[in-house]
Amino acid sequence: MSNILVLNSSVSGEASVSRLLVADAVTELTQRDPSAKLVFRDLAANPVPHLSPETVAGVRSQATTPAEQVARALSDELIAELRAADTIVIGAPMYNFSIPTTLRSWFDHVLRAGETFSYSEAGPKGLLSGKKVIVVESRGGLYSEGPAQATDFQEPYLRQLLGFIGLADDLTFIRAEKIGYGPDARDQALADSRAELAKLPA
Ligand SMILES: Cc1cc2nc3c(=O)[nH]c(=O)nc-3n(C[C@H](O)[C@H](O)[C@H](O)COP(=O)(O)O)c2cc1C
Repeated sequence: MSNILVLNSSVSGEASVSRLLVADAVTELTQRDPSAKLVFRDLAANPVPHLSPETVAGVRSQATTPAEQVARALSDELIAELRAADTIVIGAPMYNFSIPTTLRSWFDHVLRAGETFSYSEAGPKGLLSGKKVIVVESRGGLYSEGPAQATDFQEPYLRQLLGFIGLADDLTFIRAEKIGYGPDARDQALADSRAELAKLPA
């Protein structure tokens, strides 16, 4: 039995393209492995707190006060979910050329020295491995080609964050672009992305 961790971060509820495609990705994966166990994190409905002095102390050094211990416990829980997952599906809308702050907060809690990465003389090393990651990127504009390409701080950033903890080996980006260009462009983006999802290797 495999474990699938599903993260959504769009604030747009039923109108969200990334949520639709994340659901399609989950359907695709569970058709292939009906016994897969699913864990859902809706980072818009239940945000992981932004960093504060307590969370930094709890996550990055010794957790001594109750608030620091709560922060450490949440980081421990999120890292345990990540470690247990064989596949991670991430819904990542483009907000202001990057990712939602709620998704960034999740990364703030799971990028933890000694747990998901380590430093040595040889430089940083990701401590996770052997996981499939599927990232659904929804964007109002077009960034995979053309003049706006240089302003895509979403995909390179996600690549860096995921690669830093060892999740670069089996990483697929599904790009739903031109969502803001009108209903036809949105439908086309959904159809193209669904075709990409259907081609995912087993
Ligand atoms: C707060 C906010 C910021 C956005 N910033 C950008 C942006 O910088 N570039 C872009 O192409 N689209 C931007 N958009 C449009 C979204 O990327 C687009 O609507 C996408 O479909 C959102 O994903 P969702 O449908 O899953 O919610 C923004 C939307 C919102 C709500």
